[in-house]
Amino acid sequence: MDTLILGVESSCDDTSAAILNNRKILANVTANQEVHKNYGGVVPELASRAHQQNIIPVVDQAFHTAKVQKKDINAIAVTFGPGLLGSLLVGASFSKTLAMALQIPLLEVNHMHAHILVHFIEEKGKVKFPGFPFLCLTVSGGHTQIVLVKSHYDFEIIGQTIDDAAGEAFDKAAKIMGLPYPGGPLIDKYAQKGNPEKFPFPHPKIPDLDYSFSGLKTSILYFIRDELKKDKNFIKNNKYDLCASIQYTIVEILMNKLKKASLQTGIKQIAIAGGVSANSSLRKALNEEEKKLGWQIFIPPFEYCTDNAAMIAIAGYYKYIGKDFASQDATPFTRYR
Ligand code: KG4
Ligand code: ZN
Repeated sequence: MDTLILGVESSCDDTSAAILNNRKILANVTANQEVHKNYGGVVPELASRAHQQNIIPVVDQAFHTAKVQKKDINAIAVTFGPGLLGSLLVGASFSKTLAMALQIPLLEVNHMHAHILVHFIEEKGKVKFPGFPFLCLTVSGGHTQIVLVKSHYDFEIIGQTIDDAAGEAFDKAAKIMGLPYPGGPLIDKYAQKGNPEKFPFPHPKIPDLDYSFSGLKTSILYFIRDELKKDKNFIKNNKYDLCASIQYTIVEILMNKLKKASLQTGIKQIAIAGGVSANSSLRKALNEEEKKLGWQIFIPPFEYCTDNAAMIAIAGYYKYIGKDFASQDATPFTRYR
């Protein structure tokens, strides 16, 4: 029997809608918001407004691409959090209204769990799915977590950042260098041409499986400020090496704790998820450890790394088969819970 789910994502600066048939994606349409480029980060007011403009055209496009009619869907899955309240309210209100009009269940999705569940989307040629338990390094613009995934419904955070997220570290370093938001993909691009060992940056000394990235941001800031005093074109002249060195440090910090988590738990099925899992250096590091440490690794396709509604739809699918429906008075939440 077919189970058709409409997924809706609007937690930050991407408005996205997807249609899922069982575990296969029929459409995944995303409108990215260009308005934040020059601000060095997402401006919440502008984001809410852009979601309001984009949501109906994006959902319409998803139905059109999937060749599915609204009357045929079984449920609507929507991100309830964590994220920006104004942004979340747009997706949640839209989805509640449509679910009520169509008289179908509403499914409340946790954005961070959805990032992880993309590993269960079925695709042509895909034969490898993680078994339980596995570890997932979930790295986005707002969160950095090592998650022990015990089932489609059971997620235990065994390590997380105590301050900035890994994506934030990329974005803030890019901002210091005068690059537009989001800086992560640009640092990745420029790093390809640079020497990762040219500028060594310190690693934080944080106990257990937790992370910290705010010290790295400060050391990059002070280092560049001091070098600019000697050479006002320092950033321009060293753009590639700076990006490569910053990226190398962030990836090393991420990988060290991930290796520690694998050793501690004895789990060798290792996944990555979230926007930063698009990073080429992190993907390469994971591939290298697969050979060295005998890991079985899971890396999402690029289109499912950064925010998208396909991940909301697959997370909703598991809620639907578990009959875990949301009520009409459910409210979005801004922080992870
Ligand atoms: O998961 P995501 O799309 O949104 C949140 O839930 O936060 O992640 C966005 C983050 C941004 O910080 C962005 O700079 C980062 O992912 N990112 C990357 C790359 N692509 C996106 N960071 C490093 N390298 C990339 N290729
Ligand atoms: Zn995300």
